[in-house]
This record gives sequence, C-alpha cells and structure tokens, in this order.
Amino acid sequence: MNLDRNNLPKPEICMQEIKNWLSQRPEPPKAYLHAFGCQLNVADGENLSGILQAMGYVMTDDVKQASLILYHTCAVRENAEDRVFGTLGSIKKLKQENPALIICVTGCMTAQKQVADKIAKSYRYVDIVLGTSAVNRLAQMLYAHMHGLRYAQDIETVIDIPENLEPLRESKFKASVPIMYGCNNFCTYCIVPYVRGRERSRKPENIVSEVKKLIQDGYKEIMLLGQNVNSYGKDLDIKITFPELLRELNKISGEYWIRFMSSHPKDATPELMDCILECEHVAKHLHLPVQSGSNEILKRMNRNYTVEKYLSQVNYIREKNPDFSLTTDLIIGFPDESEQDFQATLALVKQVKYDNMYSFIYSKRTGTKAASMLDSISDSEKSRRMQELLAVQREISVENNKRFIGKILTVLCDGESKKRSGHMSGRSSENMLVEFAGNADMLGKFLKIKITDSRSNCVIGEII
Ligand code: SAM
Ligand code: SF4
Ligand code: F3S
Repeated sequence: MNLDRNNLPKPEICMQEIKNWLSQRPEPPKAYLHAFGCQLNVADGENLSGILQAMGYVMTDDVKQASLILYHTCAVRENAEDRVFGTLGSIKKLKQENPALIICVTGCMTAQKQVADKIAKSYRYVDIVLGTSAVNRLAQMLYAHMHGLRYAQDIETVIDIPENLEPLRESKFKASVPIMYGCNNFCTYCIVPYVRGRERSRKPENIVSEVKKLIQDGYKEIMLLGQNVNSYGKDLDIKITFPELLRELNKISGEYWIRFMSSHPKDATPELMDCILECEHVAKHLHLPVQSGSNEILKRMNRNYTVEKYLSQVNYIREKNPDFSLTTDLIIGFPDESEQDFQATLALVKQVKYDNMYSFIYSKRTGTKAASMLDSISDSEKSRRMQELLAVQREISVENNKRFIGKILTVLCDGESKKRSGHMSGRSSENMLVEFAGNADMLGKFLKIKITDSRSNCVIGEII
C-alpha cells in the first residue's frame, strides 16, 4: 500500500476501517489523552477524544491502562515544551513493556519542524506526530500506522475548518466553542501564528446552531474561543463582525451565559463594549491582554496600540459600568525591557486595577522576530520584577474583591471548594470566584449568593 500523505483514503473511510478493526478485539481498547496549553487546545482535545471514542476507544484517566496515548501539546513558552519532553520520557517504559502501545504527539509544539525532527530522532518510541491539524488528520495517520507505517508524521497546517464534530466534553454544563482558528497579528514574541496559521472564521450559521443545541442540551455557559475573537468574520465572504455574532447568539432563548476570549486591544471597539453591556446573556467581564505598560515595548512587540488608547478603552467601559470586570495578560522581561519600562507596567496595573492577571516571564521562541533581539536583562532581575508585579496585583485584588461585599451575585456553581469543606464554588457573571456552603446537587445551577466576606482570590457568601 502507498502510505503517501496524499494517497491515504478519506478520513471517513479510515475511521470506518479502524472501527471495524477495533471492534474485533475481545473488549474495547482504552485511550488516554492529555491536552496542554490554552483553552483552544483543550477544546481540540475534546474533539480528539470524540474522534477516538467514535473509533471504538474508551477514554481512561489512567495512562498505564491505555493502548493509545495522545499528548496534544503547547509551544507558547519553553517550559510548556519541557513539560511535554519530561512526560514523554516518563512513558518510555510503558512502550518497552507493551510494544503494541500507540503513542501520538500532536498540537502546536509538533507543528514546529525542529521539534518534530527531535521527536523522530530522540524519542523513537513515538508512533504518530501531527501538528495543529490533528483533528483533521488523526484518523488517516492511525490508519497508516495500523497498515504498517512505523512512524507517521504530518505537521502541515490544514486550513479546512472541521465541522459536525462530536466532542467528548468534560463538563455537562460548561462548553467551549471555537469560533475561529489561527492568528494574523504576529506579535514579535509569539509562536502562535507560525503553528496555527492564518485566521479562519467558522460560518456564523454553524456557530449559532452549535450554541443553540448546547443550550437545548442544558449547557449553562458557552465559552467562544479564538486567538483574537474580535477579528471574527474579517476573512468571511459575508459581512459579519464579532459584536454582530454576539448579538445573534444573545437572541437564543434560555438560561445561559456567553463568555469569550481572547480580545486584542487593537480591535476592542466601543461597538464591542456596548454589545457586552447590552446583551443580557453576555457575561460582564473582558479579558483584554495588555502585555506591557510601556509604549516603547508595545511597539517592539508589534501590538499596534498605545497605553493611551488602551486606557481610553478601559475608561469607556468602566464609566458605563464601574463594577465591570477586567483581566489581562502581561509579559515581564521582554528583550531589553528597562527598569523604566517595567515601572510603566506597574503604573498601568495600579491605574487599571485588574481583577486578575496572568503574568509570564518572556520566553524566547525560535522563528519569532523577538528571538533575534538583544537581551541584556538577567534572569534574576526578571524574577525580581515578576515578584514585585505579583505583590502589587495581590493588593489590588484584595481591595477590588471588597466591592462585592453586601451585594447579591448570580453564580453558576461549577465545583467543590478546594479550600473549605462543605463549600461549593462557582463564578459570577464578572468571573469572580465565589464560595458558599452547599452540596453537589447545586452543580450546574445558577444561584443567588449574598456576599459576606472577601479574600485575595475569591469572595465568600451565602445562598439566598
Ligand atoms: N491571542 C491572545 C492575545 O493576544 O491576547 C493570547 C494568546 S497566548 C496563547 C497567551 C499569552 O501567552 C499571551 O497573551 C502572552 O501574554 C503569553 N505569551 C505568548 N508568547 C509568549 C512568550 N514568548 N513568552 C512569554 N509569554 C508569552
Ligand atoms: Fe500571539 Fe499576538 Fe496572536 Fe495573541 S494576538 S496569539 S499574542 S500573535
Ligand atoms: Fe499553546 Fe498553541 Fe494555545 S502554543 S497557548 S496551545 S494556541
């Protein structure tokens, strides 16, 4: 058989053949899947689990029980890649004990040629390597493997958007819905545009029908995902913007919230802010990654906005709703970030008073523009800056959270409290973590909670 990439049967045919093959086993084989990285990757992971289940695998949480192991990887920072290499090292003995075990590595990390080559050379017990087209290509690669190809690799980005998938969702009440794939922004530090390709938006009718079905099935929170959701629609033949899509989704009847991430400040228009405030189902929270508070650094990052423009967006929404919740991403130690640049970041954080932030020490990514920029700042200095930033944010969070004391928040209960026994937890529309005395019957329900106390990372209340 010719196992050339272009001569493999169509995915549906491969699926059917794998299904027939697996059904001959005395009991269904088990598959283990772990998705590293962002929520888009986790959503891909749910789709990949759905595909494996449709083939006849039963998913397991125990890697030792699995006949197939799949790691869907992330490349955003070096430590994300180190974790995957460490994990791969730890399963080598499983393959030695069971040579029939199939090991697949897919996702953003393996979409980089040098990483795929390293795996082919140094991790010879890996059987299948796919990039970010794993959802499109897994069935064909497994088919090739099952027909005797010892090592199957395909790291090309496929631009076709997979539709009609049946993800195996982890939650019964919270669902992620990717609305677009890829990124056109080429921030100079970021690997994502290289591994995920250019922006591709899903057709609005497909998104609306998927969300409608989820709400009919009882889902209470829909998270719309994309690397830059407010660019949604720019690549489609029909004219539709992200706020227009939100307004369409907001028309669906039912009891549910819509969240979305991430938004790029260069496209965060007043139209988007008004839409969030006006649509009853859209949660009152915006994740608006600023990355730095220095105009010089923002320019070198190719972010295409200034601190002043960013602040005008923050002021626009906070004037209309002072309780509106804002969170952000920040990079510390971008090449040659001066003390003055860092102080500008601290000043911005103090001015905006974010409810939460995700801060990262800059990590050099091969192939990006920033990788060739000179960097004279030491690692210890970067760590010091990070500690200072975190301390400032902790104080702000403590103060910010107090604003909810005495208020009644609607909360979607989504789990048990990790710290307080007999307590459940959930998020409010503002994405505030709320803890309250309760039990597992409350999972997946909207509850009214009167806030009585606050901490640095949550507020505490009682059901009314
Ligand atoms: N598309 C989103 C945006 O622009 O806001 C962000 C997606 S990225 C996967 C998540 C965050 O990782 C970024 O906002 C940035 O703060 C961080 N990040 C990306 N590349 C990085 C790098 N090379 N080093 C450190 N942090 C990085
Ligand atoms: Fe990366 Fe920038 Fe695209 Fe976000 S917008 S994924 S940070 S290139
Ligand atoms: Fe990582 Fe890829 Fe997401 S690099 S953060 S998994 S898009």
